[in-house]
Amino acid sequence: MCGIVGYIGNKNTKGILIEGLKELEYRGYDSAGIAVLQDDKLEVFKAVGKIKNLEEKVLQNTTCCVTPNEMSTGIGHTRWATHGKPTEFNAHPHLGIYSYVVHNGIIENYKELKEELTHAGHIFVSQTDTEVIVHLFEFYFNQSNDAQKAFDETIKRLEGAYSILLITKSEPHKIFFMKHGSPLAVAKGNDDGEIYFASSDAPLIGLANDVVYLEDGVSGVASVGNIEFSDEVKWTTLPQNKLFAQKDGYRFFMEKEIYEQKDVVIDTMMGRLKNDEINFDELDKSIIEGINEIKICACGTSYHAGLTASYLFERLSKIRCTVEIASEFRYKEPLLSKDTLFIVISQSGETADTLEALKMAKNAGLKSIAVCNVDNSSMTRVADATILLRAGIEKGVASTKAFSTQTVVLWMMALYFGKTRNVLSTEKLKTELQTLKNVPNSLKVESQLHEKCRRLSKRYLHGHGFFFIGRDVFYPLALEGALKLKEISYLHAEGYPAGEMKHGPIALADPELFTIALMPQHLHYDKIKSNVEELSARDSTICAISPISFELSDDFILTAETNHYMLEFFEMLVVLQLFSMEISVRLGNDVDMPRNLAKSVTVE
Ligand code: F6R
Repeated sequence: MCGIVGYIGNKNTKGILIEGLKELEYRGYDSAGIAVLQDDKLEVFKAVGKIKNLEEKVLQNTTCCVTPNEMSTGIGHTRWATHGKPTEFNAHPHLGIYSYVVHNGIIENYKELKEELTHAGHIFVSQTDTEVIVHLFEFYFNQSNDAQKAFDETIKRLEGAYSILLITKSEPHKIFFMKHGSPLAVAKGNDDGEIYFASSDAPLIGLANDVVYLEDGVSGVASVGNIEFSDEVKWTTLPQNKLFAQKDGYRFFMEKEIYEQKDVVIDTMMGRLKNDEINFDELDKSIIEGINEIKICACGTSYHAGLTASYLFERLSKIRCTVEIASEFRYKEPLLSKDTLFIVISQSGETADTLEALKMAKNAGLKSIAVCNVDNSSMTRVADATILLRAGIEKGVASTKAFSTQTVVLWMMALYFGKTRNVLSTEKLKTELQTLKNVPNSLKVESQLHEKCRRLSKRYLHGHGFFFIGRDVFYPLALEGALKLKEISYLHAEGYPAGEMKHGPIALADPELFTIALMPQHLHYDKIKSNVEELSARDSTICAISPISFELSDDFILTAETNHYMLEFFEMLVVLQLFSMEISVRLGNDVDMPRNLAKSVTVE
């Protein structure tokens, strides 16, 4: 996820910005840049790849803003590509004629604004949504000659989520800022009058004590020793532990990533879910022309997202869909025909088996799409089209937010193809879109729910095995729940289709066999209920997860009443993630770096 830093003061502004960006490296990025302004001298540096590339450029080409006792202003940014490739042109800060902007988030209406500004004579050099902000600012400034007014007019026109820092030669000693949706903090430096900005605490620690975490809708302007806010703000004291700050105060990256799912799925949907339709700029409608089958290939958690999607593609797009584990697919001598659309799913975009499967499909002449979290990764370079997850970097080895964003993207694709193929009624599409908009709410971690998982976890630290069971899309969810538990608790767990238990595994049932039953209200409730009753009759210990109370369970986790099974799916996902994490904590395991596992598996 992108990061922002800003500084006003009389220290070495470039050095401060670069050190600040280094503190944000843990969030992931693929390019970085800074812009500094001293009176009418404006300098900008951008580099693709690591911050040290940027640092080298700065050291070689500097003419201003490094010597102490000279006041300057500066803004910096690390970019995680969402609109446009990771190139220097697309890296922030973005330039108009005399102003620079850095931005986190997504400007949903950037296309309309770009068209309007292009007509007005503005020239764009990047593929990003961000560039419209600085042009819009200069468009209004050219009319009023008043920077504050121009900034206010600009932010009124922006739709989406954003935090922004803007500097301009027309007011060289100021930084204009705005926060709406993406985080932004402003802090008073320890030395006279200096002011710092950052998108999270880490760059501020040690340099400042007093901080304001801006609320949505708050904008303002800062100059040495002075910050004006558009609304009332609350000053607090900065935490002093950097690792704690990098984890946003959570105990583990995994925990942070579970909690931030509700926010990242908003980014995933942004600009793609519009009023009554789904739009993928990345896809040409013709990609589905002449296609009679979808084949999905992936590994691990991404495979589970693929399996979930296979139900949705058949149900909503009325198109045959098969899913294969990439390492199996590669050596089975698969029969591939050109009327098959090949979709690979991968958080990293580098998993060797999935990448090789994609190459095989390409060589056989199939059209392909990569659903991926890392732009410019190997899979995005091979596939015909890429849909980015926009989940930000995932640091916990056990995948969490990649799965939720993959499922959201694939569900949207199923709706998009259904509509394109004319097999989905407008009414049905409308209901599904309304449901999609409620996904962030279902992913929100309620404190009682977390506490319930924490308390229950103490009863599940032993036993001779876990069966996670579910039906339909809750079967891949059961597989995912079992995988999470295995990975970080090292306990044996299996995911199983609930209706299949009676064909063998039920022989294992006894009080030391733990059944985690996913019992959604809105998908085959009666069927799953009778499957769980069969297990209960054989004395398996049952933990039921459902919005409907179930008297035969030993433990029960109550989920919210909703009107759609996919909302139940996302809430149950959170329950399973928290449950595994709390078991792992009690067992004293390393939650973020479980034994024997790597985050990206680039070998066969
Ligand atoms: C599970 C997990 C792995 C990955 C798998 C595929 O928590 O992280 O199972 O899902 O190695 O990785 P990607 O999605 O990067 O292709």
